[in-house]
This record gives sequence, C-alpha cells and structure tokens, in this order.
Amino acid sequence: PLVSMREMLNTAKEQSYAVGQFNLNNLEFTQAILQAAEEEKSPVILGVSEGAAKYMGGFYAVVDLVKSLMNAYKVTVPVAIHLDHGSSFEKCVEAIHAGFTSVMIDGSHHPLEENIALTKKVVDVAHTVGVSVEAELGRIGGQEDDIVVEDAEAAYAIPSECDELVRETKVDCFAPALGSVHGAYKGEPNLGFDRMEEVSHLTGVPLVLHGGTGIPTHDIKRAISLGTAKINVNTENQFSAANTVRKVLDENPDLYDPRKYLGPAREAIKATVVDKMREFGSSNKA
Ligand code: G3H
Ligand code: ZN
Repeated sequence: PLVSMREMLNTAKEQSYAVGQFNLNNLEFTQAILQAAEEEKSPVILGVSEGAAKYMGGFYAVVDLVKSLMNAYKVTVPVAIHLDHGSSFEKCVEAIHAGFTSVMIDGSHHPLEENIALTKKVVDVAHTVGVSVEAELGRIGGQEDDIVVEDAEAAYAIPSECDELVRETKVDCFAPALGSVHGAYKGEPNLGFDRMEEVSHLTGVPLVLHGGTGIPTHDIKRAISLGTAKINVNTENQFSAANTVRKVLDENPDLYDPRKYLGPAREAIKATVVDKMREFGSSNKA
C-alpha cells in the first residue's frame, strides 16, 4: 500500500535497519525499484526530485504511474512517494495535492529561523492529511538536479540547531548534513559520526543520510547504529543503468529497439536496489 514514511522509519529505527530512498528518473527506474521492493519484501521510499517530476510529466503523472504499476505488480510492501529536496511551501503543497505521501522541505540554504518557519508551515499542512515531512540543516555538497553546493559551501549541521528545528517543527525525520555528498565522492567520505550520534540523541527522530552513493558498508552500518533510518540513493542506480546501456549498444551497434537496451538497464537498476536493501537491512521487513 501507499503510506507515509512515518511508521516505516520509526519501525526501522527501533529495529536498527534503514529504509532506502531510491530516486525515480523514468519508467524503468520506477518499475525496477517497485519490483526489487516486492521481491525483497522490503519497505521502500520512491524519491522524486522536482526536476525528475518535471521530466516524467509532473507530480500527477508520477503518482498515476506508481499506482498503476503497484496494481500491475500486485505490490504488498509499504511504499512512500516522497518529494525529494522540495524547494518551497508551494511545491510541497502541489505534491501533496497530487497524492504524494511524504515531502522533504529543503530550507537548508536559509538562516535557521527562516528554515524553521518554512518547515513548520509545511508540517502544519502535511500532518493534517497524514503526509510525513523531512527537513534538512547544514549543506550537503555536490550536485543534484539544479542544486549545486560547492565544497567550500558544504557545511556540517550544528547539533543544538538541529534540536531546535526538530523540536519546533515536529518533523517526522531529519537530515543533518554531516559531510555526505550528492554524486560520486572524491576519495573516501568523511562523515561526522560524533555529531550524528549527538543529533540522534538530542532530536530522537529517525535520521536521514543523503548522498548514499559511494558510502562504504562499514560507514552505512555505523550510521544505522547511530540512528540513521533512511538512506538516499540515486547516482548509483544511474551509473548501473548508463553502464548497461553503453555496453549493450557497444556490443550491438545495429540495435535500435529501446526495449532491448532499456530492458537490461532496468534489470541492472533492480540488482543494485536489491543489493542496497540487503546492505541496509530492510529486506524481509515488510
Ligand atoms: O536526495 C537524494 C540523494 O541524496 C541521492 O544522493 O545521488 O549521491 O546517491 P546520490
Ligand atoms: Zn539528497
């Protein structure tokens, strides 16, 4: 069924595993992620950035597609459709109207008090209709869609500010930027685990780790042990899909039927998602 992230993440935190947020980019991503979740008997969060929604035909098109595929595949596991890095109150409301069950309001580029006010406004609307909300503090480096954060701008979240934001806004989960990066890492990631532990302890809510691509398993396990219950992955699935398409077309220069190169790409995405679900510990938890 389509559900919010609230129960999913509270249960995951209690039982020390994390639910993956896998981002949608097109039809094949949506199919692959839903198939992986159902086969693994894993709860799943479908992340939809504003750019990806636009590419796919808008928020309504995304919700209709997800619902249709869930029917076609007879999906029984809990699925959340989540607006990733929502840029404004208006965009969050638009997504909720279209049937999203969860939204992230990313006010991380605003000063603390403005971020709190904006997040609170979104929570007030979302919670009246049972939609969950994620907020962010600090700045996650790298690039996702149109959001580019230079190395110098990337900033670790401050625990006392995280506590204030979560307490005042009543968000369901929270993403403190602690050194993770969107896209590939230059070298090994350097995550702020001491702060992660402190933020988890102070706020009590399930924590979210953005930039899941390229984080080694020992860091994933450590983050989960410190209260991380949601891990976002996008680029790694994009790598899997692109590498597969390149290989198939290289090996078969006469091939032109999209089903013959996007079909294998879909299988590659699915395999990557299955691996992540096992690594995050969410398999057989639905
Ligand atoms: O919000 C989405 C993510 O944080 C994905 O990050 O593309 O580095 O896996 P990634
Ligand atoms: Zn992110």
